[in-house]
Amino acid sequence: MPDNQHADRTSRTRTAVPRRFLMCRPSHFEVSYSINPWMHPEKPVDNSLAVSQWEGLRDLYRELGHTVVEIDPLPGLPDMVFAANGATVVDGKVFGARFRHAERTAEGPAYLSWFQQQGYEDILWPEFINEGEGDILTVGRRLLAGTGFRTDPRSHFEAQEFFGLPVTSLKLVNPDYYHLDTAIAVLSDDEVMYYPPAFSEGSRSVLREMFPDAILATDEDAAVFGLNALSDGLHVLLPKAATGLQARLRERGFEPIGVDLAELLKAGGSVKCCTLELRTR
Ligand code: ARG
Repeated sequence: MPDNQHADRTSRTRTAVPRRFLMCRPSHFEVSYSINPWMHPEKPVDNSLAVSQWEGLRDLYRELGHTVVEIDPLPGLPDMVFAANGATVVDGKVFGARFRHAERTAEGPAYLSWFQQQGYEDILWPEFINEGEGDILTVGRRLLAGTGFRTDPRSHFEAQEFFGLPVTSLKLVNPDYYHLDTAIAVLSDDEVMYYPPAFSEGSRSVLREMFPDAILATDEDAAVFGLNALSDGLHVLLPKAATGLQARLRERGFEPIGVDLAELLKAGGSVKCCTLELRTR
């Protein structure tokens, strides 16, 4: 019944649900090393422009009714602005992050101690490498977990046991899309949009099985980081250059909002990377 399915996804009522986000001001942001293909330390970065673009995103979240709390940025950790990598928080439980590269390892304990100071009680310092919500996304009561470049696949089972929620592993194969949140975005409790060429053949098949109606990104939309998006159920904040995805989202009843984070893109990050969702039960 393809017609009914079509009607279902276009006529759905979209509702924004207020969220709680953790963000980190890019006070010490720069591109002084390269751990992904987007990073070119020889190219200049305008730190004050990065800060004002980041403030634009933070203020937009607040205008949309979300709560944003901030962690203090630490000198010497230029990528700490990418709060999504700091942990994965579901049902008030904190699955700490353990980074692949030496340049970022100190961020794991920094984020973890923030959660301790805030009074979170159920916190796990993980055994295996995982880069937080960069590679672990929540779709309703399920988790999608990426591997291939950063996160160790053994951490997927570690996360499943810790949260007691089913985890589906997905393999990334294109170094430009090195974190799961650069290749797929969660739109609602059962909808996603993604870029098939970022995934292995087997994982593409898994995604087709799980999300037969998903929005598929074009090469152009993926290349401007369009999948690094954050949905609150109605508004979808994404890089403003991703115009094709914005049209697809509008067709499905979402309200896309284009955001300019060009300075942070020089480190290979955008909207979603800057945002860690603090989920309670
Ligand atoms: N320069 C950072 C890195 O390569 C960017 C992280 C982007 N974060 C994300 N959630 N995808 O680790």
